[in-house]
Amino acid sequence: MMREWSPSSWRSKPIHQQPGYPDQDRLHQVEKTLRGYPTLVFAGEAQRLRKSLSEVAAGRAFLLQGGDCAESFAEFSADNIRDSFRVFLQMAVVLTFGAACPIVKVGRVAGQFAKPRSSDVEVIDGKSLPSYRGDMINAMEFTDEARTPDPDRLLRVYNQSAATLNLLRAFAQGGFANLEEVHRWTLSSLSDAPQNDRFEQIAARIDECLAFMRACGLTPDNIQQLRETEFYTSHEALLLGYEEALTRKDTITDDKGWYNTAAHMVWIGDRTRQLDGAHVEYCRGIHNPIGMKCGPSLEPDDLIRLVDALNPRNDPGRLTLIARFGSDKVKEALPRLVRAIEREGRNVVWSCDPMHGNTVKSSTGYKTRPFDRILAEVRGFFEVHEAEGTYAGGVHFEMTGQDVTECIGGANRITEHALADRYHTHCDPRLNASQSLELAFLIAEMLRRRRTGAAAPLKAAS
Ligand code: PEP
Ligand code: CO
Repeated sequence: MMREWSPSSWRSKPIHQQPGYPDQDRLHQVEKTLRGYPTLVFAGEAQRLRKSLSEVAAGRAFLLQGGDCAESFAEFSADNIRDSFRVFLQMAVVLTFGAACPIVKVGRVAGQFAKPRSSDVEVIDGKSLPSYRGDMINAMEFTDEARTPDPDRLLRVYNQSAATLNLLRAFAQGGFANLEEVHRWTLSSLSDAPQNDRFEQIAARIDECLAFMRACGLTPDNIQQLRETEFYTSHEALLLGYEEALTRKDTITDDKGWYNTAAHMVWIGDRTRQLDGAHVEYCRGIHNPIGMKCGPSLEPDDLIRLVDALNPRNDPGRLTLIARFGSDKVKEALPRLVRAIEREGRNVVWSCDPMHGNTVKSSTGYKTRPFDRILAEVRGFFEVHEAEGTYAGGVHFEMTGQDVTECIGGANRITEHALADRYHTHCDPRLNASQSLELAFLIAEMLRRRRTGAAAPLKAAS
């Protein structure tokens, strides 16, 4: 029997990573206002995502999850959303060719505004202020005013998320994602990148397939899958007051459960996955698909306890384990967890976040991630699953459609000294459009080898 749960039962549990709001009255007013606002997504959509993820768990589909580390108010524009969506679609097409199976597309978007931090305070020149925790909570500028947590930001997050989601729905279903438009997804900023030529080759093959299908009477006009795509949203369920306010009882489908209606999927971060903590308590009761980050401190027995708390019925598609160990640790740390899951017969999706275990400080003082290490972690993740006979089900990236300089390396060889040129992230360094596409090609190659049974050279190459 499930212990009693309600959207607010997390409030009686120990909690980490929450801001100290000086104005509690205003916080309560804002949460009350949010409780009256319309849902952003529907229970039926979250259920569809869960079904697609159960296909991933069964080894018949692959998950692509990605987007900004943190969305921001300053970078909110139609062009930015369009460019990220474009590069995401390009990556999905590249992966489809490699995997020859459906790619489940989930953005870190339309709600990804709150960040866990390693310290509650930041000290500069002897002055101590609350750390920046994402635009949902405070502002980045190092002043008392900017760093004071402001409840009104929650309303702005809701509005920006609603507008972002509206545009994404239009892009996904209103013609932009039509496969006949595949040439238009190429970003002008990538026009001379080598990945662009490779993408154009794929686009030309898609044209040929479409022409053949058209000749057979199958066209985007009569086949919905050719003219539309399913794109889902996700974010870290960190600031639980906001998540609670948008948690609603499903009154439309037969499920009749509670859903987080701020996103199709939410995940628990590596720093807030305590078994008896508030974040696990909140997530265990909602019926959305859930992700959980798994970092180096997670022991196999604790993993099983967490899996059982979050997915007591062992439903496939309910729980995605997002491994984020670092390229130097993945091969040692991941097998123990994979074996525990196999031994206990638990159904999960295994996904790889090769970003958060590979953050380093550049000699020029920027937080960065070397492209080679990101790739090495993905490669290690695939190798572990191959050796264990389990299914590497997906990848989770921090990325943008913009031509930023935040991660070093890649085909366009961003150096430590170039980081200062266009370093715009509000939190962690993201892959730029070119690096994202390059990585997609490299992963597609791994997927192709896995599919065609030529996986052995992958191992030998490491
Ligand atoms: C994140 O995904 O931005 C993040 C903070 O990850 P993690 O919880 O894995 O550190
Ligand atoms: Co991050």
